[in-house]
Amino acid sequence: MTEQTIICHIRYSSFESLPESEQSLISCAIEASKRAYAPYSQFHVGAAARLQNGQIFTGNNQENVAYPSGLCAERVALFAAHAQCPNIPVMTLAIAAYNAKDSQFHLATPCGACRQVIAEFQKQSGFPITLLLYSPEKVVIIKDAGELLPLAFDFPQ
Ligand code: THU
Repeated sequence: MTEQTIICHIRYSSFESLPESEQSLISCAIEASKRAYAPYSQFHVGAAARLQNGQIFTGNNQENVAYPSGLCAERVALFAAHAQCPNIPVMTLAIAAYNAKDSQFHLATPCGACRQVIAEFQKQSGFPITLLLYSPEKVVIIKDAGELLPLAFDFPQ
């Protein structure tokens, strides 16, 4: 028998069919992508984190000529939120990725390192983080980002 991992998600066929609160958070991520510093990859990612109290923190990828010194949009947004509001849970994280090479937005999922950070913030707050993954053709909503990283690293209890 083949084992399969099934990730629960909802697909919306268009941005306009989304509820207003999701649309507005995705718009923040799209705007943030326009401020990304991505001269090396030309891949401009924006992320917007909405906290339980409604505050929104945005981030975008910050690259560097010493490549590993750069950071993904998701972690820039999450760390900014956590630096300023360490005790307020992040509830939703929207991600928008624009490839300047083909001048289009593409649906992008968080990299492994970002998944690890998301997993820890979820564990710390006790609330699952919902992901909103944007593309012009469809929006994918993943209700519990923890599903993206089974067996996330943690210190043995
Ligand atoms: N990047 C992100 O910002 N988020 C991701 O989830 C994956 C990749 C950035 C890192 C780098 O600046 C560029 O996209 C190409 O990998």
